[in-house]
Amino acid sequence: MASTHKSSSLLPGVAFVTGGGRGLGLAIAVSFAKSGARGVVIVDIQDDETMASAKAEVESHGNQASFCGIQFMLCLLFSLLTGNWALEQVKCLPIRANVTDEKDFESAIAKTVSEFGRIDYTANFAGVGGPHKPVSEITVEEWEKVMAVNTTGVFISTKHQLLQMMKQDPIEWEAGRVAIRGSIVNCASVNSVQAMAGTVHGGNKVLTFQPRPLKAALEARQHGIRVNALSPGFILTKIAEPIVKSDPQVFEAWKSFEARQGRTGKPEEIGDAVALLSSNQMSLVNGQNLVVDGGFTVNTTTY
Ligand SMILES: NC(=O)c1ccc[n+]([C@@H]2O[C@H](COP(=O)([O-])OP(=O)(O)OC[C@H]3O[C@@H](n4cnc5c(N)ncnc54)[C@H](O)[C@@H]3O)[C@@H](O)[C@H]2O)c1
Repeated sequence: MASTHKSSSLLPGVAFVTGGGRGLGLAIAVSFAKSGARGVVIVDIQDDETMASAKAEVESHGNQASFCGIQFMLCLLFSLLTGNWALEQVKCLPIRANVTDEKDFESAIAKTVSEFGRIDYTANFAGVGGPHKPVSEITVEEWEKVMAVNTTGVFISTKHQLLQMMKQDPIEWEAGRVAIRGSIVNCASVNSVQAMAGTVHGGNKVLTFQPRPLKAALEARQHGIRVNALSPGFILTKIAEPIVKSDPQVFEAWKSFEARQGRTGKPEEIGDAVALLSSNQMSLVNGQNLVVDGGFTVNTTTY
């Protein structure tokens, strides 16, 4: 049975973003808020101050905040007259939890459900950079440290998000269209579809970011849940900034990646792409890896 909740928003439900404390995860959380999500949960291991600042940023982009002056007054009047509170400001719940710790993660899901009652759209973007060395020099300890977050963390997140979504009634969104019970978007990378031999940190990421959780898409669809991956191009966030800015060789390599991408990419471009992929308008899109890279991977030239 479909939920009776209806809304004209692109994403009227509850969003849950791992790695939402900063970088791409925070941009995704903001995009969910801008697209009408009533609740946005950000899960991260960042300190309380960073989490509080991320919460404030997400809430400042909620529906109500985007209206001002006469436009806001008209919308408020409309809400009062029609009883449609679609303009209610988004609530952001920051949760400090480690995606590699299953118990910690289960408790983050439980806190979300206790606050908002359900989880409709998730984006699993908690991640760490690999050891920037050739494969032949990577130790097993270094390998396992990265795999714990970027692979096991995505597995734990997908598993418990599926378990929650499978219990829920889908949100009814358009008469005659199949109701979707949930959407999961897992982070991959351009390095998951294209080898980068000869670049400064080419070797490890090709192996690290395989979108294995896409296989879950074929199990999830029988429950009305979609699982996709999204591969960002080159976006200068804090994961890469320290290395790019401290080593002239890496800086040059980054500039050449951006040139091949066509231009500098912005975190909000990844955020909006994840929000669109999560929307019910993408109801038949399942098991895909959406590459968002300005054409980097199809560009066979070096610029
Ligand atoms: N920025 C890019 O150009 C780019 C390109 C392709 C893929 N990616 C991938 O996107 C993901 C996000 O990258 P970003 O650029 O936002 O980096 P970022 O470092 O700014 O953000 C990553 C966030 O994940 C959090 N995190 C790390 N380990 C965690 C854990 N165990 N539990 C919970 N949270 C944890 C960090 O605290 C941080 O807030 C990474 O996996 C990255 O490799 C980034």
